[in-house]
Parts: sequence; structure tokens; C-alpha cells
Amino acid sequence: MKTYHLAVLPGDGIGPEVVNEGMKVVQALSEADSSFQFESTTLEWNSEYYLKHNRMMPENGLSILENYDAIYFGAVGDPRVPEHIPIWELIMPIRKNFHQYVNLRPIKQLPGVKSPIHAKGLIDFYVYRENAEGEYSNSGGRLYQGTSDELAIQNTVITKKGVERLARYAFEYAEKTGVKKVVNATKSNAIIHSMNLWDESVKSVAASFPEIEVEDTYIDALAAHLVQRPETFDVIVASNLFGDILSDLGAALVGGLGLSPSANLNPERNYPSMFEPIHGSAPDISGKQTANPIAQIWSAALMLEHLGREDLASIVMKAIENVVNEKTALTPDLGGTARTFETGDAIVQHIHKQT
Ligand code: NAI
Ligand code: MG
Repeated sequence: MKTYHLAVLPGDGIGPEVVNEGMKVVQALSEADSSFQFESTTLEWNSEYYLKHNRMMPENGLSILENYDAIYFGAVGDPRVPEHIPIWELIMPIRKNFHQYVNLRPIKQLPGVKSPIHAKGLIDFYVYRENAEGEYSNSGGRLYQGTSDELAIQNTVITKKGVERLARYAFEYAEKTGVKKVVNATKSNAIIHSMNLWDESVKSVAASFPEIEVEDTYIDALAAHLVQRPETFDVIVASNLFGDILSDLGAALVGGLGLSPSANLNPERNYPSMFEPIHGSAPDISGKQTANPIAQIWSAALMLEHLGREDLASIVMKAIENVVNEKTALTPDLGGTARTFETGDAIVQHIHKQT
């Protein structure tokens, strides 16, 4: 029997509520199929931990995580802790040190989910966001604080190697799935140094995929196109900041953050990859069992896919689609009255029907 070792980090706010549902799904799958099992360890590295220990994870946190096959992550963020702490002391160290340089964000409209805009077809595209460098760098500083001369510098780090490995991953996906065009999100007309290197690096990868067209689009125009004709996009490659914004925009087009998963991938598999929803800890609704667990459960499907179990991933996706389509177990964000655990239970029931 194959055993997958999972590190589970529920985090803060709605994180534990939705992760609980994701783990129900994972358990239901492993009970139904005797060829594998999941062995999970829950690590309470969250804001509560920070308030006690003045750090987000133990000193050897990364070497603990390194031994797992995958990391299943909820969300972090708590009003009692400065906003940058959970991000820079937990999420960023994992993404950067484990070279999870691909942040895959599927933007997929499920049948039956209404978009706030009138697209001419179902919306279904992938954002490949650079996840290890770019605008989210801690290189920089501030001077003359508290005076009228105060200044801040924040450097963007773009490397040829960093862009090429991300672009290669996206083009390989496009090739495998028959996608004919990759859209490159850029702003090289205004950000002339880093974004020109970005464009050149994307082009150098594109040269090895002559059957796929690459279309450079300025980020501002691209934001407009995503609202005007989202159904025409298949694959977008974007820098860390641009990809973050575009994928939240995309999430809004296909039913909101409650339906938007993501994968932080280390394609070489030298380190575990991490799977989490796009959304945060949502302190405004936490503790009420009103959060939608689908983004978290969908992230488990991405994890199964990464672990080589596309068969299980598609069982999960089918169960999600059925629950969304039936509309009887939807949380308030999708217009229903179901509680978080009821949506989770309904998805588990649909998994039982298939297994
Ligand atoms: P957020 O994603 O937590 O919430 C934005 C809005 O969407 C809120 O109104 C929330 O109620 C709603 N929402 C989010 N997830 C939902 C779900 N599953 N079901 C129903 N409604 C949902 O973003 P916000 O408010 O900007 O940040 C809250 C905290 O989360 C902050 O501390 C922030 O730093 C942190 N954060 C953490 C992330 C992570 O752990 N990767 C990512 C984004 C934010
Ligand atoms: Mg974001």
C-alpha cells in the first residue's frame, strides 16, 4: 500500500474550518481505495503560535516540512498580528526555500455558477504566476522615517532563469493540452528593465514551442480583456504581483474566492509542493461555519493530481461539480444557506457514490 505523508497547516480564521472539510474528502478517498492511504500530521503554525513564541514556525520548521510528500495549507492572518508577519515568516519562506516557483491558479467556471459578467462561453483558463521572486522581494528599505523626506525603495528581482523555468512549465502544459496561445502579462513599456528581461525570457522559451503563439499584453489592457472576453483565454503567464491580481480578478469572474484553488509547485520535486486556496483567513466570517470549503477541497484535488493520482482528482472535481450544480448544499457566498461542514459532507457523499 502506498502511503502519502501530508503536512497539514490549517492556519488562522476560516483556515481550520475549510481544511477540516478538505481532510474529510482526503480520508473518504483513502477509505474507498485500499491501494493507498494518507498519513497526515497537523502543524498548528499560525498566529496563535506566533503570539506564544514570537515566530510563525519552529526554528527547524522548514526541515520538518521537507520530509513530507505535500503541504496542505489553509490560510494565515489574524487581526492581532501585523499583516506582514504570517506572509513573510511562514508562507514566503516555504514558497521560496522549497523553490515552489510555479503558482498555478486555475480559473474555471463550474456549470451552474453565475459569473457577474456575461461571458460568451464558459470561463476556463490557467494563470501561471511566478512565485519565488519578482515584486514580492524583501530587498529595499526606508529612510528618514517620520519626517517629510521619508522615502521607501522596494526592489523587484527578475532573473532570466526564474522566468524561463516558469514559462517552460506553462508552455509544456499548453503543448500537452493543445492550447494554441499563451498570453504574457507584461508592462515592459513602463517598467523598462525588469519587465523587458521578463519578456525576453518568455520569448526565449516560446522559441522552443513554435506551434504555440505568445501574445504580450500590457497588464492594464489585460485586466480589461479579462472582463470583456474572459472565455477567450487559456493560459496566462504572469509575474508574482501581476499574477496575484489577475487571479483574484479571475476568481471574481467564476464565482468568487470560495471557488478558487491554487498550487505552489516545485516541478523538480526536490521539495514538497503546497496546496492552498487563493483566499485568506477571512476574519470577518471565521468561526461561523459560513465559509465555502470548495476552494480548499479543490486545492486537495490539485494536490492529488500532483501526487500522480489524476483518477482521484477527477473524482473530487466531479463531486464538487455535482454539489455546485444541485445547489442544495451551497454556502452563503453562492446564495445558499448551507454551513461549511454541510457542503463538505455533500461532497463526501458524492465521492462515495463514485467509489
Ligand atoms: P480574504 O480572502 O480572507 O477575504 C476577502 C473576502 O472574501 C472576505 O469578505 C471574506 O469573507 C471572503 N471570503 C474569503 N474566503 C471565503 C470563503 N472560503 N468563503 C466565503 N467567503 C470567503 O482576504 P482579506 O480579507 O484581504 O484578508 C484577510 C486575512 O487573510 C489577512 O490577514 C490577509 O493577510 C490574509 N491572507 C492570507 C492569505 C494566505 O494565507 N495565503 C492570502 C490572502 C490573504
Ligand atoms: Mg492574493
